[in-house]
Amino acid sequence: MATRVYDRVAQCYDEDWGGIYTAARACYVEQIYRASKCRSLPLDTVDLGIGTGNLLLDLERRLPLGKCIGFDLSRGMLRQARNKLGEKVELLREDALLAARRLPAESVDLVLCHFLLSFVAAEPLLDEAYRLLRPGGLFSLATSTQRSLGELHNGRFSRTGRLLGVQRELHKASTPADHQQSLELLRARGFTIIEHRSQRRQVHFESFNDVRDWALNSGWVAASLDDPFGMRIAIATAIFALARITLHPLYPIETHSEISIVLARKPLEVETRPMPELRQAEIPV
Ligand SMILES: C[S@@+](CC[C@H](N)C(=O)[O-])C[C@H]1O[C@@H](n2cnc3c(N)ncnc32)[C@H](O)[C@@H]1O
Repeated sequence: MATRVYDRVAQCYDEDWGGIYTAARACYVEQIYRASKCRSLPLDTVDLGIGTGNLLLDLERRLPLGKCIGFDLSRGMLRQARNKLGEKVELLREDALLAARRLPAESVDLVLCHFLLSFVAAEPLLDEAYRLLRPGGLFSLATSTQRSLGELHNGRFSRTGRLLGVQRELHKASTPADHQQSLELLRARGFTIIEHRSQRRQVHFESFNDVRDWALNSGWVAASLDDPFGMRIAIATAIFALARITLHPLYPIETHSEISIVLARKPLEVETRPMPELRQAEIPV
């Protein structure tokens, strides 16, 4: 289970190597804030895969939140969230999909699902989110796409990636191929898209140390590196150490993260036509 990796990296997760999570969060906090202006407040909220709780912390500074529940499987991440959020958020160590199934239908105003599709099947998760939402409720999705950092795992590190099963894990995961596919996924589950952005950022790996920090210490390759005996982490560490010596002249590597960020809405029962979407082009940040 990838959560073993998150237990290990929980303390340094917020260092956010490359600033990818922080930039994405700034974007979806704004999306939610804008949409909340047309809604009655406070918003009862569920965070599926809450991690260290950064989003609820940011949101509660911007708008009134009602009852908040956060699910995560990693004890380490939940501990960080508890330190940050105190007792006002109910934190439960449960599989996000199963937990969502247990909550009453149409009981929340806002469902958050950020960087979870690498671990949980998208369709059932989106169906549960839809069921949980009151009509008119908001669903915020952020996910890396399969194109994200492609220069690393398809290019420079294709052999290491194959050895560690990175490509296999990527293809097994529910992360969409690209931003369009993530929009289609939401529309197909009945959501109306309110706002969306494909956030592309240049990521600069100065040396192998950067690749190692990103892959091993920030949790980005969590699904591929996890095994009960820590063998894959040991293999990856050895490969990185060797490569650092032999391949140093190949650096730096420029690559791009690609994050699909979408705010959607569960339609009101009386709606017959979908509302027009607010489109945003691919904007480098
Ligand atoms: C990349 S982190 C994202 C955390 C947070 N949503 C954020 O945006 O910073 C993924 C989180 O999902 C959690 N996770 C993985 N599989 C899960 C599952 N089946 N149910 C609940 N949480 C899960 C991990 O423990 C980790 O905290």
